Amino acid sequence: MQTTPDLANLPSPAACVQAVREWLSERPEQPLAYVHSFGCQLNVADGEKLSGILMEMGFGFTDDIEKASLILYNTCAVRENAEDRVLGTLGSIKRLKRDNPSLIICVTGCMTAQQQVADKIHTSYKHVDIVLGTSAVSRLAQMLYAHMHGLRYAEDTQVYMDIPEGQVSVRESRFKASVPIMFGCNNFCTYCIVPYVRGRERSRRPEAIIAEVQQLVADGYKEIMLLGQNVNSYGKDLADGMDFPSLLRALDKIEGDYWIRFMSSHPKDATPGMMDAILECSHLAKHLHLPVQSGSDAVLDRMNRRYTVEAYLEKVRYIRTRDPEFSLTSDLIVGFPDETAEDFEGTLALMREVRYDNVYAFIYSKRTGTKAAVMPDGTPDAEKSERMQRLLALQRDISVENNRRFLGRSMRVLADGESRKRPGMLTGRSSENMLVEFAGDAALIGSFVNVKITETHNGLVTGILI
Ligand code: SAM
Ligand code: SF4
Ligand code: F3S
Repeated sequence: MQTTPDLANLPSPAACVQAVREWLSERPEQPLAYVHSFGCQLNVADGEKLSGILMEMGFGFTDDIEKASLILYNTCAVRENAEDRVLGTLGSIKRLKRDNPSLIICVTGCMTAQQQVADKIHTSYKHVDIVLGTSAVSRLAQMLYAHMHGLRYAEDTQVYMDIPEGQVSVRESRFKASVPIMFGCNNFCTYCIVPYVRGRERSRRPEAIIAEVQQLVADGYKEIMLLGQNVNSYGKDLADGMDFPSLLRALDKIEGDYWIRFMSSHPKDATPGMMDAILECSHLAKHLHLPVQSGSDAVLDRMNRRYTVEAYLEKVRYIRTRDPEFSLTSDLIVGFPDETAEDFEGTLALMREVRYDNVYAFIYSKRTGTKAAVMPDGTPDAEKSERMQRLLALQRDISVENNRRFLGRSMRVLADGESRKRPGMLTGRSSENMLVEFAGDAALIGSFVNVKITETHNGLVTGILI
């Protein structure tokens, strides 16, 4: 009789990959996996590694969920609507399991790193076979091995502090690549679930990062996105003194025609050294995403952001003194618990002063387990929505005015796709991360082109190929 394996005593991940591969090879046709990542680019990068593990096991891939033998949702927990979307999606695929009982359904990522969510899935979504948290890359092969040996439900929500290296990624793009440089977060902003689901900060070894970027550039990748929840605290846990600016300068030495971008930077750790590196390194894109969250000192304090509006503006002035048009973008939270009308006016005032090229604004969402979840909040939802509309309208005006600076200029653009709205037009991003549209042949996608800007709009400039 077959016994179900003990999850604490499974063979190594490599041995499990091999065993599952042999098991799958007995099937008459190659099994296909449907993999979808929600959330931020770090989660998408994890999803690409999970696809890499599935590929090593012998899976092919499909975008048609009906044809899949394995469905993997890599989830996000940052706001309530992100979680609701995943639960809605899980409900909608129940019929697939009913029609095909051998279908394997896995849920991984930030949402299922919360034990209460894993419990809910176990009890209310019985068609799910495997639940993993944010250490899914370390554990997926072993969970599939356990499933193959008859374990009806396999779960491991623990955050492992190891950094698996040498993992194959099935990358979504052939010219843009994400490279996580660190994992986890130590900041505990009071609204944010991320430190609870991704654990403490840990940096990858610099030589592993440099080798990966060298290989990507050699393979023809044109844009390298360095990722971490707070990239500018990179290296604080490493013994050899490599910090984020030194990593940027080391990467900049790699020869080739490519750009480096990164996100996200916490303003408290955005040093002059980091800004100097951006301005001085030729491969670094001239854009900085510096999420301020609020323009009120009282709110920033309750958010535990550990900077004041003035300290933030000081950093903005540093970079703008050296490049007056330097492109900045931000994240903003509207309606943090007990945000007053005056606090909100502070956010609008800060936006008028910084003049961001773009902002990502979110209405505060209560996350169970965070400190802000138990803070009193007397602001009605309708008031929060109205503030959000005012904020977006202001940003629209600023973006329209800011974008006029590009009129008549020639911009270097990485062409990245075909315009969905205007057939025949291509889209791309400039060094400043500006969205640029121009008429061109689809064969240009994935290469750098020069575009002369003839029209500017909100969030978009258009031009002609030079
Ligand atoms: N680590 C990055 C940082 O500090 O800038 C970004 C982390 S988070 C994934 C991306 C953005 O989501 C945050 O900058 C914040 O604006 C927003 N966010 C996080 N928690 C939120 C919450 N509970 N409600 C609304 N927005 C939230
Ligand atoms: Fe969340 Fe703050 Fe960490 Fe960003 S820095 S992930 S907002 S706790
Ligand atoms: Fe979401 Fe996790 Fe990223 S909560 S935003 S997927 S780090």
